[in-house]
Amino acid sequence: MDVRTFFFIILSSFILLLSCYAAKPSLETKVALLNQASSQNLGVVELDSNLYDEFVAKPRNYSMAILLTALDPQINCIPCKEFDPEFRLVASSWLKSGNEPSRLYFGVLDFKNGREIYTKLGLNNAPTLFYFSPSTGPYAKDVSEPYKYEFNKYGFSAEAFASYLSGVLGTPVPVNRPLNYFAILLTVFLILGALAFIKLMYPLIETVVRNKNTWAAISLASVYDFFAKTMCEKFYVTLRENNNHFKLCCPKDRTDSAIPYCAV
Ligand SMILES: *[C@@H]1O[C@H](CO)[C@@H](O)[C@H](O)[C@H]1NC(C)=O
Repeated sequence: MDVRTFFFIILSSFILLLSCYAAKPSLETKVALLNQASSQNLGVVELDSNLYDEFVAKPRNYSMAILLTALDPQINCIPCKEFDPEFRLVASSWLKSGNEPSRLYFGVLDFKNGREIYTKLGLNNAPTLFYFSPSTGPYAKDVSEPYKYEFNKYGFSAEAFASYLSGVLGTPVPVNRPLNYFAILLTVFLILGALAFIKLMYPLIETVVRNKNTWAAISLASVYDFFAKTMCEKFYVTLRENNNHFKLCCPKDRTDSAIPYCAV
């Protein structure tokens, strides 16, 4: 063997070794990447086909919930759009919860970045959510296949998803829904507006309440209503007895109404 062949063999082995290393990052590398990506992106790791393969590959000492979605407007996946903010809410709540971050990661693989994975898994609907249990470490579970989150069974809300995760993870997964300041402000404004209106109209309201005629009108209305009901019942019966001889009538379902008549 000449020197050139020797160097060639050494060099190719080295390249082979490097590529193996690049294709299969160690657990430490994966955890470091996941920590970095999720802390920079409110708890969500954006994936493509390669990253998906890397992070779900064993060994994993972490759990990972991966949402396979399709947010492209052309695909128009309405449940995808509905669930996306809920998924991200659970992810950011987990990030801020003070739990050990490497216990659970949240990944998103959009169809446009992950066609290969969709094809490989034979997926033809979105959203699809997989939960991967750890394969090693203190929380390892002896399951080879990921769990599939059943949207129809559990629902699309962050709370539903978080309670599912709490169950499979064995640790509470919180949801910290941010306050809707706009709704609060609107309510306060409406209440203040109503109070201001009552204050403005108070003299008028007072006059109406104090007026004898108002009370007279209310009494008359009650008396009228009482007779109306009685008459209504009576005429309804009469109508039936006399075989449509009377023009007055009262529909069966309106015998308790103050309007006793209807045209036949
Ligand atoms: C998983 O492994 C990484 C790297 O060894 C370590 O930093 C991390 O704390 C481990 N996580 C768990 C949940 O054991």
